Amino acid sequence: MVVLILALALGLGLGLGLRHPQGGGESPPTSSPSSTSTPLSPPTSVWKPTSGLSWQIDLTDTLDIDKNDPVVTPNVDVFDIDMFLHQNNSVVESLHKLGKRVVCYFSAGSYEPYRPDSYKFDKADFGDALDGWPDEHWLNISSPSVRAIMASRIEIAHKMGCDAIDPDNVDGYQNDNGLDLTSVEAIDFMTFLAKKAGGLKLAIGLKNAGDIVTDVLPLVQFAVNEQCAQYESCDTFSAFIKANKPVFHIEYPSDAPTISATESRSACSAPGTSKFSTVLKTMDLTGWVEYCDGHTASTDVVS
Ligand SMILES: *[C@@H]1O[C@H](CO)[C@@H](O)[C@H](O)[C@H]1NC(C)=O
Ligand SMILES: *[C@@H]1O[C@H](CO)[C@@H](O)[C@H](O)[C@H]1NC(C)=O
Repeated sequence: MVVLILALALGLGLGLGLRHPQGGGESPPTSSPSSTSTPLSPPTSVWKPTSGLSWQIDLTDTLDIDKNDPVVTPNVDVFDIDMFLHQNNSVVESLHKLGKRVVCYFSAGSYEPYRPDSYKFDKADFGDALDGWPDEHWLNISSPSVRAIMASRIEIAHKMGCDAIDPDNVDGYQNDNGLDLTSVEAIDFMTFLAKKAGGLKLAIGLKNAGDIVTDVLPLVQFAVNEQCAQYESCDTFSAFIKANKPVFHIEYPSDAPTISATESRSACSAPGTSKFSTVLKTMDLTGWVEYCDGHTASTDVVS
């Protein structure tokens, strides 16, 4: 037992000593090249990312990253990927080996008909369809049944070895949802999700939901924001930067993927965006990305 603990401590020490070149905070738990054959172990403490980390987000594809790949494109600190598209492959492990942190995305506040656990939802918990996504419904986020399903999703993220979760659609109260959702319910739901995640040593981000930033900021480790430059609301999220927590910021310039200097500037230099981690994307959130320095990249994906 003592030997085991010693070995573990040594292993951890070695792991922590290895920082990846881009300075993505502490190293992920499985990045030590000497431990390539050990199975993926869940994190032992909650990841606390700092503001300014670089990132990529692809919610459409399964990434094509092999365990032996020496690099990933783009070579950024953090990858935000669709949880279910990576549930049964080794992409999270491969990203960890490359020194990357992995944020696992799922929808927490909407029903999507095509997920492996979609059958679990009770139609009584459905609200209106989401604007632009007719198959997707707002969910009653106060329903114990919905919360149990989301708790199971967080357990999946934990089993996969994700460093964090990106629970989407917690801002139903800002939309026509057909359930009279309130911001008070959204805060309570985020509190529920954060407790569940923290219990499993997973970090959690606040997705959009500007009105509840003040209440939720102490519960979460980062923000993921869409279009605050477009809607002139980036100042709301700069509270995260003041707390040295990253704002993973996405804008969808109308001319993407051939973005003019003017469009890039209005996305990247909007008031309040100082130290934001900004990516310019097409609305379908594929592997293509442009950064504020004009650099573009495409992550390899499974076709
Ligand atoms: C992954 O495997 C689990 C367990 O076999 C299964 O229930 C689930 O549907 C699979 N997920 C996907 C996205 O294929
Ligand atoms: C949502 O769920 C809560 C808890 O079960 C319930 O009290 C409330 O009436 C539900 N809301 C709607 C609009 O059905």
